[in-house]
Amino acid sequence: MGERGLRVIREFQSYYDDLNGVRRAIAHRIPVVPGQRWLDIGTGDGWFALEIEQVLAPRVVVGIDLARCEVELARQHARDSSSRLSTFVQMDAYRLGFPSGIFDGVGTFLALQDICLDLPSMYRLFGEINRVLRPGGWFVLATTTPEDAETPSQKLALEIYQYIRAGFFTKTEIREALERMGFQVEHLEFYPTGVNLDPEEAKAFIQFECDWLERAYGWRNKPDWRMVWARFEPRIRALGGLEVDAKVTFFLARKVRMANPVSEFIVELSQEVPA
Ligand SMILES: C[S@@+](CC[C@H](N)C(=O)[O-])C[C@H]1O[C@@H](n2cnc3c(N)ncnc32)[C@H](O)[C@@H]1O
Repeated sequence: MGERGLRVIREFQSYYDDLNGVRRAIAHRIPVVPGQRWLDIGTGDGWFALEIEQVLAPRVVVGIDLARCEVELARQHARDSSSRLSTFVQMDAYRLGFPSGIFDGVGTFLALQDICLDLPSMYRLFGEINRVLRPGGWFVLATTTPEDAETPSQKLALEIYQYIRAGFFTKTEIREALERMGFQVEHLEFYPTGVNLDPEEAKAFIQFECDWLERAYGWRNKPDWRMVWARFEPRIRALGGLEVDAKVTFFLARKVRMANPVSEFIVELSQEVPA
């Protein structure tokens, strides 16, 4: 992607870059053992990988993302912040190109809902993460859960994300998937980001989210942002804005055993879906 493309993306994402320091706060909750190998899945602009580098003094942090444009942005942010230990690669989270047991820790920040659109895919993802972690390795999962949305404006933000394209899972579903895929949850915490977009920023957010799908993945059948805006504008204006990514839930889990074969759960989960 050329310089112009990078500038357009950066302009809109300013609220997202910092998120009120929540990435850093979460990185500080991870037990520090210097010299470890970390992997950040769905790294996007690379901000969480770069926080891990700053806070944990690792040997290396590898950030992976399916979207080439995000990997390029992450590399640029790494150069801008004089990163020496982070490296970014285009890769699919479901098919990690690493040997088993190679990482001491895996993180994923606000990416679960983009990577997994249903329960079977969350089980597959957790199984793949379990595979690349060493025994006792950490899994740091930061995500948005629907039950944390308290205000009408936060609930509307989740509805819009889901309308455009996102899967959300409850804390119970996530905890159960973690435990069944070989993890033990050691800590659970909840962080407000304080993000509240005014209606014009909310419009830019909707345009960005819709257009990004084509820019990142070449999707031609992405939702048209004007149609999405027309649908949600009255409610956004009535609420005076949109609280996007307002709450982040953080699970700190440890690999306590190898994951069971995912196929077992996929059959079981698909039987739970009502006909
Ligand atoms: C909201 S963004 C990431 C946020 C980022 N972790 C941060 O801290 O700002 C979610 C990312 O997940 C990526 N993603 C979606 N599906 C993926 C997959 N199958 N494998 C890897 N990355 C994926 C998207 O390309 C997108 O960049």
